[in-house]
Amino acid sequence: MSKAVTTFDLDIEHLLLRNVTDYAIYMLDPQGFVLSWNAGGERIKGYFDTEIIGQHFSRFYAPEEIRRGDPERSLAIARSEGRYEAEGWRVRKDGSLFRASIVIDPIRQDGELLGFAKVTRDITEKYNAQQNLQRTERVLAQAQKVHAIGKLTLGVAHDFNNLLTVVMNCLDLLSATHKDDRSSQLIRAAMEAAERGSRLSRQMLAFSRAQELNPRLHDLNELVTRSMERYRQVAGAIVCCESDLKPDLPKIMVDADQLEAALMNLVSNARDAMSGGRIVISTGTCTPDSSLHPDADGRKEYVCVTVRDDGPGMTEEVRLRAMEPFFTTKDVGRGSGLGLSQVYGFAAQSDGFASIESTPGEGTAVTIAIPAAETPHA
Ligand SMILES: Nc1ncnc2c1ncn2[C@@H]1O[C@H](COP(=O)(O)OP(=O)(O)OP(=O)(O)O)[C@@H](O)[C@H]1O
Ligand SMILES: [Mg+2]
Repeated sequence: MSKAVTTFDLDIEHLLLRNVTDYAIYMLDPQGFVLSWNAGGERIKGYFDTEIIGQHFSRFYAPEEIRRGDPERSLAIARSEGRYEAEGWRVRKDGSLFRASIVIDPIRQDGELLGFAKVTRDITEKYNAQQNLQRTERVLAQAQKVHAIGKLTLGVAHDFNNLLTVVMNCLDLLSATHKDDRSSQLIRAAMEAAERGSRLSRQMLAFSRAQELNPRLHDLNELVTRSMERYRQVAGAIVCCESDLKPDLPKIMVDADQLEAALMNLVSNARDAMSGGRIVISTGTCTPDSSLHPDADGRKEYVCVTVRDDGPGMTEEVRLRAMEPFFTTKDVGRGSGLGLSQVYGFAAQSDGFASIESTPGEGTAVTIAIPAAETPHA
């Protein structure tokens, strides 16, 4: 049985709306000026009713969205389609952003538009939690993919190496009996190709964490300083290469030659990415977030070396795939896509990890982190 609506009921409803704090519930006039306000609006957006009533609701939007005409468009959609629903970033009074879930309903009386009811919910926490979860899932999926490629690469590299050994032995035997100019030239060309193949298979083994390492206790700063001149040569004349070393680092157990090869790879990548600019090789310590680095142990202290450039950076798609073997964006013959794979495999085989931070237009930083050795500081 329905009951006639009394003034008392309306007062109760009004009271309820005014006091709801989880939702900003307010009315707009047909042009988008705020007519009413509630406690949720005050809590979520930071304005008191005296400050906001009479103001245009576009002030909750970012300047770029106002330029694009988003506020007017949302009212036009609500008017023509009977409802507007959206999720996006909105601006609080203090200028900070929050993730908002928004519903706008047109309010009509006898067909005439009186205004709009707008309900906004702050879903920033849920949104951030979802983003973090998705990021962790992406990182894990990528790590699993790289592990699987590692196994495959290991098998291929072993067989490939054995075949190349046979090819090189045969070429050696042939060279002893075929000494005329034409034969020697052909044998030399075949030998060079086989040696290049052998270098590739060594890099593949490095990616698969199966190269022979010769780890010793080293001071990272000493290793970087010792090879700095070589890194400068690789960087070339138009790119400046500097170091920024944090003193008194714990020692690390590492193969010095492979670390140098890894840093060479990083410096040459940075050089290739830039037409002039600056490369900084810095050292320090870090305790990694293991949700972002599945290969890292969040309880350990790591000693890190980072090669940072101010080049064009990578898209997220390139960043996620950059360490896969044979992934390259360079022209045929200019890159084999094994540089970062060596860095990845070397770091992993040294019980550490490698990570890439890069944003298009803002440069790239690749970090190799190796666990601090359990010995007293130097
Ligand atoms: N510093 C950087 N700035 C921008 N992009 C980079 C940088 N370093 C690597 N990349 C991207 O990652 C890809 C893979 O790098 P990687 O070193 O593994 O292979 P490569 O440089 O293409 O070839 P190779 O090192 O075998 O000669 C590059 O092709 C490039 O697209
Ligand atoms: Mg490279």
